[in-house]
Amino acid sequence: MRGLEAAHGRILVFGYIAIDIEICLTLRHIVAVKDTATLEPINHQKFDPEMIRADFPVLHQSVRGKPLVYLDSAASAQKPKSVIERLDRYYREEHSNIHRGVHFLSEQATEHYEAVRQKVANLMGVADPDEIIFVKGATEGINLVAHGFTHSVLQPGDEILITEMEHHANIVPWQIAAEQTGARLVVIPVDADGIIDQSAFRKLLSEKTKLLAFTHVSNALGTINPVREMIDAAHALNVPVLLDGAQSYPHMGVDHRDLDWDFTVFSGHKLFGPTGIGVLHGKRAWLERFPPYQSGGDMIEKVRFEGTVYKGIPGKFEAGTPHIAGVIGLGEAVDYLNSMDRLAARKHEDGLLEAARKGLAAIDGVRLVGNAPDRAGAVSFLVGDIHAHDIGTFLDADGIAIRAGHHCVQPLLAKYGLAATARASFSFYNNMDDVERLLAGVSRLKQFFL
Ligand code: ALA
Repeated sequence: MRGLEAAHGRILVFGYIAIDIEICLTLRHIVAVKDTATLEPINHQKFDPEMIRADFPVLHQSVRGKPLVYLDSAASAQKPKSVIERLDRYYREEHSNIHRGVHFLSEQATEHYEAVRQKVANLMGVADPDEIIFVKGATEGINLVAHGFTHSVLQPGDEILITEMEHHANIVPWQIAAEQTGARLVVIPVDADGIIDQSAFRKLLSEKTKLLAFTHVSNALGTINPVREMIDAAHALNVPVLLDGAQSYPHMGVDHRDLDWDFTVFSGHKLFGPTGIGVLHGKRAWLERFPPYQSGGDMIEKVRFEGTVYKGIPGKFEAGTPHIAGVIGLGEAVDYLNSMDRLAARKHEDGLLEAARKGLAAIDGVRLVGNAPDRAGAVSFLVGDIHAHDIGTFLDADGIAIRAGHHCVQPLLAKYGLAATARASFSFYNNMDDVERLLAGVSRLKQFFL
């Protein structure tokens, strides 16, 4: 401890040379810290939906006097006990700032935070954990890439290619980038079933395209896009790709070794982790080319009034005190996912989604919005000419939580002549009772309104 104090003291006298010494000491001590975190995966051995459901405390309550049916996981997924308890323990026993301290708690928090970077890299099939940047969520990840493109890539006349089914988070940052650089936003059409027009895509992709940015799974329609083919087509013309994984990671393995995207993003809160934390993965060469997105503490090597030397990645993009608890909670969520048979979980979810779609379609007056053959997670629907908000409010009175509105895809809904839909979205913790309650609720709603 005295050695650490001495090293720390030298920083004040000798400036950044002594900082190196401090870092060495800190790292040595980090290695020596005994990991008291539960990084042990919970072993469900096989996928047992009722056991999984028991892991989610929020599901076991009544709302509006009825047992809760939670069908809004596409907006935000619920949290297993292990994540909740991990956050509780972090704040009760472990909280400290990271990357800065020479004391036990700081070293331990730093170690736990950085261990999650590796864990997330493993989840994504990414070989280099330095390419994992912690951000607030998918939205901030896309904004960071748009900032990088604005300041280091885009020129007047360049094109950014997106699809008509993008979330506003994958439209507006590109509109701003286009406004600021003189580049142009080009939009690939989507057909009446909610499928990207692949021949239009091939025609729109050109040497002017500087980025293809598109979603893996549509949050509003549930369409799973042919990601591999689209990425390959873009790469054949040396066009980099940003894949919005916000709605795919919660439902399937999404692996860089298979898809080779240049950038991808997801949000922790949709992946059974805390709110306010998300991940951007970008290939090193791109991230190194981009200027910092935000600046301040912890993203620098050396600051003088004459100029500043930034850290390399990932530090360059993580200015200020990060969401330490969020990262640690996200790590626990990743452990939780790793503990289950995800293929079986997906099969279970798909069964629920198809039962809901079939059941809804069989109710006279119900219209499904989106009919792509490959789907995950969500079904959007309308009942006669009842406003989506009325559908949502009626079902809520029955304890059923769905999302009603434009789902942050106003251009897509406008194309279909709609302002809003009702959307039920599923996760592995839902069950067939949830589907039956939804269908019974929609049937009663129809009798009430029509
Ligand atoms: N993007 C989230 C949703 O689709 C909030 O509901």
